[in-house]
Amino acid sequence: MLSVIYVSVADPLIRDEDIAAILLSARRNNARDSLTGALIFNGHNFMQLLEGPAKDVERCLDAIRRDTRHSGLTEVRRRAVEARDFAGWSMLYDPDFEGLDEELARLAVIGRLDEQDERMLRNFVALGRRRGAA
Ligand SMILES: Cc1cc2nc3c(=O)[nH]c(=O)nc-3n(C[C@H](O)[C@H](O)[C@H](O)COP(=O)(O)O)c2cc1C
Repeated sequence: MLSVIYVSVADPLIRDEDIAAILLSARRNNARDSLTGALIFNGHNFMQLLEGPAKDVERCLDAIRRDTRHSGLTEVRRRAVEARDFAGWSMLYDPDFEGLDEELARLAVIGRLDEQDERMLRNFVALGRRRGAA
């Protein structure tokens, strides 16, 4: 199983409705393709963790990379994993980050996220907060 984390730059004109539409198709497609993960939008950038069978993750990333609602998709972590970090979520998203904080804490406790990943995700969320984005 493959797990990829990427960051990208959101279209500056992106609206809440666009985020809702992204989540709708992500959740539908990912449930169909047995992909799971989490998406964070900090007001400026996306960070997404996508995990599942390698060929399905690659195919999905190809589609996401071509999506004009963001640009500059850059992978920040790619690794083979034995178990999913976000097994229960076709695409976890929490606009207030609160549930995500809890989930990150839980994952850190059971040891699925290493220290570096956890720091990266937390800092990403904190950057958006500091700029007053939600
Ligand atoms: C930040 C971001 C994250 C996305 N994540 C996913 C995803 O996890 N799964 C997915 O199928 N599409 C995702 N998409 C949407 C795809 O780029 C693409 O629009 C969609 O897969 C097309 O499928 P549809 O025609 O069924 O809507 C994402 C788009 C963006 C901008």
